[in-house]
Amino acid sequence: MGKTPFSRFLRKTHGCGELRAEDEGTDVILYGWVDSRRDHGGLIFIDLRDRSGIVQVVSEPKSDAFSVMEKIRPEWVVKVAGKVRMRPIGTENPKMSTGEVEVLATEVQVLREAKTPPFKIEDNIEIDERLRLKYRYLDLRRKEMLKNIILRHKVTLESRKFLSENGFLEIETPYLTKSTPEGARDFLVPCRLNPGRFYALPQSPQLFKQILMVSGVEKYFQIARCFRDEDLRADRQPEHTQIDIEMSFVEEEDIFSLVEALFEKLFEVANLKISSPFMRLSYEEAMMRYGSDKPDIRFELEINNLTNIFRETKIEVFRKAVDNGGIYGIIVPQRLSRKEIDEMNEFVKSKGAAGLAWFILESGEVKSPLTKYASSKELKVLKEKYLDDESTLLVSSGGKYHTLQVLGELRNFIAKKYQLINDSQGFKILWVTDFPLLEWDDEESRWKAKHHPFTRPTDETVDYLEKDPEKVKAHAYDIVINGVEIGGGSLRIFDPVTQTRVFKVLGIDEQEAMKKFGFLLEAFEYGVPPHGGIAIGLDRLAMLIAGRLTIRDVIAFPKTQSGTCLLTGAPDEVDLKQLKELGIRID
Ligand code: AMO
Repeated sequence: MGKTPFSRFLRKTHGCGELRAEDEGTDVILYGWVDSRRDHGGLIFIDLRDRSGIVQVVSEPKSDAFSVMEKIRPEWVVKVAGKVRMRPIGTENPKMSTGEVEVLATEVQVLREAKTPPFKIEDNIEIDERLRLKYRYLDLRRKEMLKNIILRHKVTLESRKFLSENGFLEIETPYLTKSTPEGARDFLVPCRLNPGRFYALPQSPQLFKQILMVSGVEKYFQIARCFRDEDLRADRQPEHTQIDIEMSFVEEEDIFSLVEALFEKLFEVANLKISSPFMRLSYEEAMMRYGSDKPDIRFELEINNLTNIFRETKIEVFRKAVDNGGIYGIIVPQRLSRKEIDEMNEFVKSKGAAGLAWFILESGEVKSPLTKYASSKELKVLKEKYLDDESTLLVSSGGKYHTLQVLGELRNFIAKKYQLINDSQGFKILWVTDFPLLEWDDEESRWKAKHHPFTRPTDETVDYLEKDPEKVKAHAYDIVINGVEIGGGSLRIFDPVTQTRVFKVLGIDEQEAMKKFGFLLEAFEYGVPPHGGIAIGLDRLAMLIAGRLTIRDVIAFPKTQSGTCLLTGAPDEVDLKQLKELGIRID
């Protein structure tokens, strides 16, 4: 075998993991790290590791190689020259891809010694993630982490390939720019040449990609880094990567077809098959059935709307909710103990709900702390439609979307607690469509854009903008896999009258609009095509394809939950001199 793409341009003749039976008799030069060393009564073995895998190296007693191998320790960097031979019969290792062969070393050279690593370089280690992050370079030597990084590389490469083959141009947009309206806080960058002024790192390339549509690019993409100063979670980092897409002369259906074809290719990278078209749920339906705009539909536990049953009720909490939100319930497919119900009650209270009522069926009778206030008609419906001897009905009431959302979170909590998620179902992918254009912000007492202010309202609902903003639907969609929001996008407003109306409802006056987005609005005056797009969270997608539970596992150098990099110590203090140059004083 000649040089492979991996060994080509390197000093080595082969990658350690590439050697096979057909290489028997070949003289090889290998470079790598010592994975382990074993002394077997006179024979010394090392497992030599490089990115391509591991191969066993053996030396004969009293040889030069032997005397070097005697003192070698794990993680030392070495060069090995030798000949490939078949392992003696009975000593093959079928668990290793190189397990039929070994390299008889003629020369072993230590290139660099190494300290003993703070954890073992092997898979499935149980150590604090903080230690792994501090020594990330060692963590990435582990096969399972390397596998994730390679998978991510392939997903990125396949995205570029697929999109280029379909006529998209990859165009870079600035990282030092102006604030983009994605709803998180900006990271600001001061600059020496313009004291008192700041660049914002982009929360997404949104405005530039829309401007590229005015330029006539028609099909744009970018593997774009985005920066958001927001609270972090397992699937959120302060910087993340998007497969960012924008197209002109399209409707929603065109974007759906494109993404479905792209996803088929991307899952194939890990030999996973998905089927398209993906399922669709409107936002309203997703909320009513699952209490979430990113529902996990690998398990049922759907929400039931009980409002009609209690329309004339004497149960006071329910009566108040009848005309002012609703009454909703989840049927848990088992009889919960008092303690379990208390736990769930605490859970919904911590999410801002007033509490949970419960109903069970015992000896054919409905039991609940509320039975004495309920009418026999109400109890009859509950008994006939919602209860059986095994289940527990949990009910909450109040403002519609808030109650639904709390029950949605309870639904996930229950599914996790009672292991209702059937992993063998693979990937449940769906489009969530018909989002409301706006949402009411209680804290600021004003309407806010659910996606961003450039999202196009539907023709059928746009006239509610001024009268009843809640009713306006947007041409906006999210793609959701197993309960994780993987991407989102919209068709954009391209008519100035609608844009002005939307700004007005959002409380953005003309002056503010010009200051913030004037450059975009001006560009639109020079012939803007109808356009729309989407951004796919690459980290989240790679996490799912790799079967991991956090995006940190598919990011080479991620930050912790509190936004710090344990490897470099960023963010860090800076010299006073540097601050002075920038005209900045720390308060
Ligand atoms: P959106 O804000 O929905 O849309 O972002 C698109 C996708 O990016 C991923 N994502 C993140 N991943 C990790 N960490 C984060 N902090 C983070 N924030 C977002 C999610 C999300 O679905 N400009 C619009 C797209 C458009 O309209 O074309 C945008 O950025 O998977």
